[in-house]
Amino acid sequence: MSNNVLWHNQQVTKESRELLTKQKPCILWFTGLSGSGKSTIANALEHLLYTNGNFTYLLDGDNLRHGLNKDLGFDDSSRIENIRRVGEVAKLFVQSGQIVLTAFISPFRSDREVVKNLVEDAEFVEIFVDTPLEVCESRDPKGLYKKARAGEIKNFTGIDSLYEKPEKSQIHIKNTQISVEQASQQIMEFLIKNKFITRSSN
Ligand code: ADX
Repeated sequence: MSNNVLWHNQQVTKESRELLTKQKPCILWFTGLSGSGKSTIANALEHLLYTNGNFTYLLDGDNLRHGLNKDLGFDDSSRIENIRRVGEVAKLFVQSGQIVLTAFISPFRSDREVVKNLVEDAEFVEIFVDTPLEVCESRDPKGLYKKARAGEIKNFTGIDSLYEKPEKSQIHIKNTQISVEQASQQIMEFLIKNKFITRSSN
């Protein structure tokens, strides 16, 4: 970065936005293997939040790789850059007062830690969508595990690329034991209990 670029303070702050939106902005960071259910649960949760009157935005790995991150592949350094960019974008959403949901494999613990350190401690909520590899592989919704096993895709997470499980995520979804509705309700309860949102009466 050039030394000639200075930070400009903005008059409308995160705190002033909170008064308007009546919610505490945060990053709901979903992590888990491909096919674990991250996007599905994040979508269901976003719908619940929307009907509750909250302001949200969902950043989804597959979708962002069509635009902002379309220059990136799946080798380790591309994944690091992918998560770095998403972290910076998510931080902007938090500044704007929104609850931002992110659904990325984000396989490396250190990258998730980098994102956590971009915002205030309580603003980063890690949600581990814990679905065993065998289950993801048997679902194989996009046929990618089959291709990876056949050697047609390299660096596939869980096959020939690492996934580091979270050690102490705030929310642990055991996705073979509960439904999408139950998982999204579990996260809603967490958000209410920790005063990110209040339950609307309508
Ligand atoms: S991340 O590892 O960099 O966080 P991201 O969540 O953006 O990954 O993208 C993962 C999605 O890309 C998967 O759900 C899958 O649909 C697709 N994909 C394509 N190639 C790979 C690969 N080699 N490893 C994992 N996912 C892949």
